[in-house]
Amino acid sequence: MDTIFAKRRRRFLARMQEGVAVFRSAPVCRRNGDVDHPYRQDSDFHYLTGFEEPGAYAVFEKSRDRRRFVLFVEPEDPEQDVWTGRKVGVDGAVRDYGADEAFPNREFLDRLPDLLLNRPRLYLAFGRDPDFEREVLGRVETLKSEARKGHHGPWEVVDPRVILWDMRLRKTPAEVASLERACEVTMAGFEAAMRAIRPGMREWEVAAVLEFEFRRRGASRVSFETICAAGANAATLHYVANRSRMGAGDLVLMDAGAEVDFLAADITRTVPVSGRFTEPGRTVYSWVLRAQEAAIATVRPGATYREVHEAGLRVLCEGLREMGVVKGETREIMESGAYQPFFMHRIGHWLGADVHDVGPYFRGGESIRLEPGMVLTVEPGLYFSDANPAAPEWARGIGVRIEDDVLVTRDGRRVLTARLPKAVEDVERFMAAGSWWEGVRPASIGRVRRTTSR
Ligand code: GLY
Ligand code: MN
Ligand code: MN
Repeated sequence: MDTIFAKRRRRFLARMQEGVAVFRSAPVCRRNGDVDHPYRQDSDFHYLTGFEEPGAYAVFEKSRDRRRFVLFVEPEDPEQDVWTGRKVGVDGAVRDYGADEAFPNREFLDRLPDLLLNRPRLYLAFGRDPDFEREVLGRVETLKSEARKGHHGPWEVVDPRVILWDMRLRKTPAEVASLERACEVTMAGFEAAMRAIRPGMREWEVAAVLEFEFRRRGASRVSFETICAAGANAATLHYVANRSRMGAGDLVLMDAGAEVDFLAADITRTVPVSGRFTEPGRTVYSWVLRAQEAAIATVRPGATYREVHEAGLRVLCEGLREMGVVKGETREIMESGAYQPFFMHRIGHWLGADVHDVGPYFRGGESIRLEPGMVLTVEPGLYFSDANPAAPEWARGIGVRIEDDVLVTRDGRRVLTARLPKAVEDVERFMAAGSWWEGVRPASIGRVRRTTSR
């Protein structure tokens, strides 16, 4: 069964030195009372196993003549399963998830000493899950106390993320295909939202349209909490309250993403609530768009992350100067940091299983060079908060960010979210050309088909 997960395991094991790697699934988090937050598997755990249930452990063994993958899972329990449905179980872990061997999760700690016995090296993520660390290292210590029986445990602990995160940084063609689907679904959500926005609506209604389309089109969940921020709310970078009423003169910033196959899209569009850009928002918007286009144009193999950042920053600083927000030459504004009250984040981030995906941005003090298969967001913005004394009066209450997802290819780049309008005229034309509300009349949904068998 050569699944995407089996391929990843082979690559991971090929890069491991002799030893044993142990991983634990993400914990279940209580929301309130006896209700839990929706469960989402840990990205590293899922990357290697594809296993989505909680309460699991994965063990990888590598020696000169043997490579083994062992899963410990929540066993089937007919009484419990009446409430929560059937679990994968021990047999399913072998049959459907490619484990060489599987055991009930309650046996993990008892079997661990055998798995670690006389192994030179333990791969264990440290600093993330202190309870798990303590339990595993406790078993290592026990082995060492048995020296007279000829036992020893691993002497060396390596964080497996040094391998995994390097793997996750470069997407395989199969991963790119999933990410493209996530981007497709996300763009469809934005198209719907752009045609649903009306003055007087609440931000939460726009968020609901985005998320409705994501789920309707098969996304597992959102990549992060949806941001719908009208007017001055857009100057709060991670505004998620989404409860203000949108005025006809406002711009509304939507930053959202759908997750498909554990890969996250992340798009931002800032559009006029009325459907037509007006000054001064239009001018601010145009500078951000130019900055974004300049930054995207630098993405290619061999370019550094810093070059992408600076290409966008240069145009933002030019815009701040031209608009009279900051005085001085563009270069001075860039170097002095005088732009920071209005642009306080970096140009973008790696994108993958986590929206702010893993992987280094610097190596040996040098900004990392882009390679084919890497995916990053490019998302400049200008923010003029009501509470920012440095913001000129005319600009207060305007926040603009434009964000696309960009794959580095052999000969340059591919913007995975390019279809979604962002030029001023394109946005206006798109918003004017139809109403999402027409599209949701029950008649258009089609005949309801029965999906469960009786
Ligand atoms: N949605 C968070 C970000 O754009 O980084
Ligand atoms: Mn982003
Ligand atoms: Mn975003």
